[in-house]
Amino acid sequence: MNLLLENELNGILMAVFEKNGLDKKFAFVKVSDRPDLSDFQCNGALALAKIAHKNPREIASLIAEELKKIDFIETISVDGPGFINIKLKNDFIAANTDKMAVDERLGCGEVEDKHKVVLDYGGPNVAKEMHVGHLRSGVIGESIRRIEKFVGNDVIADVHLGDWGTPMGMILAEIIKTDGNLDKVNSYDIAQITEFYKRANIHCKEDESAKESARKITAELQSGNSEYRKAWQHLRDESMKAIKENYEQLDVNFDLWWGESDAHETCGKVVKIAREKGLSEMDNGAEIIRLEESNKPKPPVIMVKSDGAFGYQLTDIATAKMRFDELAAEEIVYFTDSRQSLHFEQVFEVIDKLGIAPNVKLKHIVFGTVNGADGKPFKTRDGGVMNLDTLIEMSKDKVRQSLPKAGEIEGYGEKEIEKLTSQIAVAAIKFQDLKNTINSGYVFELDDFAKFEGKTGPYIQYAVARINSMLRKAKANGLDFGKVILQAPEERALALKLAQIHNVIMRAHNEKEPSIIADYAYNLAQIFSTFYNACPVMSAENGELAASRLTLAKLVRDVLTLMLYLLGIEAPQVMLKAENQG
Ligand code: ARG
Repeated sequence: MNLLLENELNGILMAVFEKNGLDKKFAFVKVSDRPDLSDFQCNGALALAKIAHKNPREIASLIAEELKKIDFIETISVDGPGFINIKLKNDFIAANTDKMAVDERLGCGEVEDKHKVVLDYGGPNVAKEMHVGHLRSGVIGESIRRIEKFVGNDVIADVHLGDWGTPMGMILAEIIKTDGNLDKVNSYDIAQITEFYKRANIHCKEDESAKESARKITAELQSGNSEYRKAWQHLRDESMKAIKENYEQLDVNFDLWWGESDAHETCGKVVKIAREKGLSEMDNGAEIIRLEESNKPKPPVIMVKSDGAFGYQLTDIATAKMRFDELAAEEIVYFTDSRQSLHFEQVFEVIDKLGIAPNVKLKHIVFGTVNGADGKPFKTRDGGVMNLDTLIEMSKDKVRQSLPKAGEIEGYGEKEIEKLTSQIAVAAIKFQDLKNTINSGYVFELDDFAKFEGKTGPYIQYAVARINSMLRKAKANGLDFGKVILQAPEERALALKLAQIHNVIMRAHNEKEPSIIADYAYNLAQIFSTFYNACPVMSAENGELAASRLTLAKLVRDVLTLMLYLLGIEAPQVMLKAENQG
C-alpha cells in the first residue's frame, strides 16, 4: 500500500485505456511540469498516436472525456499537441494527506520483489589511513543500506576490509627491516603502524628488492607462516579498532566485518573449481583466467600469482561465493570509485563463468572522486591525504562558529554542545556528499557546507528543529492536530509535494541514488518555509485552520526526519544558533 496520488489516477487510466483498446503501457501520469496548469499530466496520447498514425489530440480528447466522469478530478484539459492536464480536487488531496499523517510509514509502500541484498562498502585497508574515498563509499553505502531496508529488502552490509594483499607483506617487511625481527610488533599502535606503512610504500617504490621481500612475506603469510600470522593479527586488530571508531563517528554501520583474509579458504576452493572446469591456465608461473574480449581487450584475471599468493580479484570472487553459500545473497552491490571499474567487470565475468553465485545480481556502483578547489583529489593544507579524523575536526570547527558556547544557553553545557556539534558536523559532511549524483565527483566546499542556510545538511536539520519548536509551543497553548484543509495555494503546493514521498524513495532505491532524497528534502524544506510565511499556524483565522496547519507541519517534520534518516543523518530535537547567526 502506498499513498501516492498518481496511483489512483494510474488505476483509472488503466481501465480507460483497456476499455478503448489502447496500449496500457502508456496509461500513467507524471507530476506536471506546469504546476500553474495542472497537478499531473498524461502524455500517453502522443506515443499512441505515433504508433497508430492517428491524431494525438483526438486520442487525448477521448481519454479526457472519460476522465471527466471521475469525481475527485477538478479540471481536465487537452493542451498543445495532445497533453492531458489534470487537476485534483482539494478535498481529495487533503484526505490523502490525512491518511499519510496517521500512517506509520508516512504513505510509503514496500517493494514487491523483497530479496536479500549484500552491500559491500567502506573497504578500508589495514595499516592505511582512511581517506575521503573510503569516506564516500561509507557514506553512500550507509544511505543505501537504510533505503534498501526501508523498502523491505533483507540487507547485510559487509565492510570488506583490505587485510590480505601485498600491503600486509610490505609493512611486515618494513618492521623487520627496522627492528631486525617482529618481537616488538605487539607494542605498536595505529599511528606507528601507519608510519611503517608509509615508509614501506616509499621503499617499495624505489627499491626492487624491498618489493620482492614484501611479496615473499605476503605469500608466506597467506600460506600460514605462524610468526607472520601472529604479527599480522595485531596489525589487523589495531587497524580495526581505529576503523570502527572512525565509522562510528560518522554513523556508518556494518552487519559484518569480514575481511579479504576471511575468504582465504574459499579462494583455494575457487582455484580448484576453475581447474576442474578447465577455465584456468598457467602463464609465466601464475594461474590465470582469460576473459572474453568482445569490444575492448580485457586483461586476464590473475588468481594465483607466481609466488603462490592470491590476487585481489580472487578474494572478491571467493567472497561472492561465500555471500551466496553462507548468506544466501540474491543481489550484491559494490561501492567504489571509478578506478575499480575494470576490476569489477573482470570479477563479475569470472563469477559468471565459474557459476559460483548463480542468479545473483551483481552491481558495481561507481562514484566520482572528492576534489579540492583546484579540481584535484581533496588534500590537507600541506598536501597530504585528507583523512577522516581531520575532515571531521574541520567540520566541527566550522559548526562551532554557528553554535553558542557552552553555558550561554540554559541546559546546554559542554557535553550537550559537543553532541550537537558532532551531529551537525556529520550532517554537513554527509549531505555535501549525498546531494551530488553518485557518479559525478564533487568539489569539497570548505566554506558553506556547514552553514545553516543553502542546500546543506544543517539547513534541513534546522528546518526540523524549527518545526519541533513550533509543535512544542502549540502544545503549550493547547492547540491540537486536526483534519487537513487546503485553501491557500501554499497549503496545496505543500500537500502535493508531501504526496510524492513514496515515489522519491522508490526512485532512490531503483537508481541507488541518495541525491534524489537529498533534493527532495531540500525542496520540501523550502516549500514548507514558503507555506509557513504565508500561512501562520498559531494566528490562523480560525481554530480549524490552525489545527490543519499543525497537522501539515508535523507531517513535514516527520517526512524530513525520515529523509535525513535515509541519508544517514540525525535530526536533533533542538538546533541552537549563535547570536551572530541571526
Ligand atoms: N580495499 C579496497 C581499496 O581500498 C576497496 C575494497 C572495495 N570492495 C571490494 N569488494 N573490492 O581500494
